[in-house]
Amino acid sequence: MSVLDVRDLTVDLMTLAGVVRAVDGVSFHIDRGETVTIIGESGSGKSTTAMALLRLLPDDLAVITGTAEIDGKDVVSTRKHVNALRGRTVALIPQDPMTALNPIATIERQMVEAIRLAHPELSKKDASARALALLNQVHLSVPDRRLKQYPHELSGGMLQRVLIAMALSAEPSLVVADEPTSALDVTVQAGILDLLLEIQETTGVAVLLITHDLGVARLMSDRIHVMKAGRFVESGPVEQVVDAPAHEYTRTLLAAIPALGPWQDPDEEVAPAADPETEAAPVPVTTDGGAA
Ligand SMILES: Nc1ncnc2c1ncn2[C@@H]1O[C@H](COP(=O)(O)OP(=O)(O)OP(=O)(O)O)[C@@H](O)[C@H]1O
Ligand SMILES: [Mg+2]
Repeated sequence: MSVLDVRDLTVDLMTLAGVVRAVDGVSFHIDRGETVTIIGESGSGKSTTAMALLRLLPDDLAVITGTAEIDGKDVVSTRKHVNALRGRTVALIPQDPMTALNPIATIERQMVEAIRLAHPELSKKDASARALALLNQVHLSVPDRRLKQYPHELSGGMLQRVLIAMALSAEPSLVVADEPTSALDVTVQAGILDLLLEIQETTGVAVLLITHDLGVARLMSDRIHVMKAGRFVESGPVEQVVDAPAHEYTRTLLAAIPALGPWQDPDEEVAPAADPETEAAPVPVTTDGGAA
């Protein structure tokens, strides 16, 4: 059984200008340990797909049809399942780590809250110990000090590590990452991507990745779906889509990224020069890179 199984998903958005079919009959699946990426130009429906699966779109503004099962539980026909699943079976890594946390609560308080939501049986003290272990798992520097700090005292890359730690707190089977590095400085992007690869290797979590960056897609994905105007125009294994695109639109996307260099094996990648003040020590690069 796939962790995520989506069939013929459509999403109609009620806008002032009328009904917009933002997602128009997409089907895909993600198995344990896989990263599946949706890539496409702005407005193609990538985030709407993710938001629909997490049921984060208001009922009066979005009409969702088709089927989508997370761990075998349908999340389209009823909200009941997703409310139970969200934050537990499925967790979201947000695009902008700077605004995702409460500015007036310490990292510790927010992590303890998230951990106890998933594990109500834990005492505050035990949840706190778990928070520290999670911050170690995401290689945040001086984690015990970070727990006592407020979000504004941490850099974007550090905050994204905290948010990844929070997403992991319930041992989810699916993580949805919508542009998880696009708000970050280029120098810290690679460290976060390495962390996601490492976590996938150690936990086997399935990842739905959304990006407009073909370089990121190529490094991270097992399979890619190219989205245009709500539909998948091309789907396949990463090498096939990136190195031999069949669809004109995919070729246009590839051509639109001038900085895209030749294929770089993650094994040969130089670890990012981490600023010791703002970033944790460089994460060891995983051996298989998860992309080949
Ligand atoms: N709040 C909204 N009101 C009206 N239309 C919307 C709204 N949100 C999304 N849409 C429309 O839905 C479609 C899909 O948008 P979506 O945000 O899913 O695209 P995306 O692929 O995530 O783009 P981006 O790369 O810019 O994040 C677009 O045509 C957009 O105009
Ligand atoms: Mg989006």
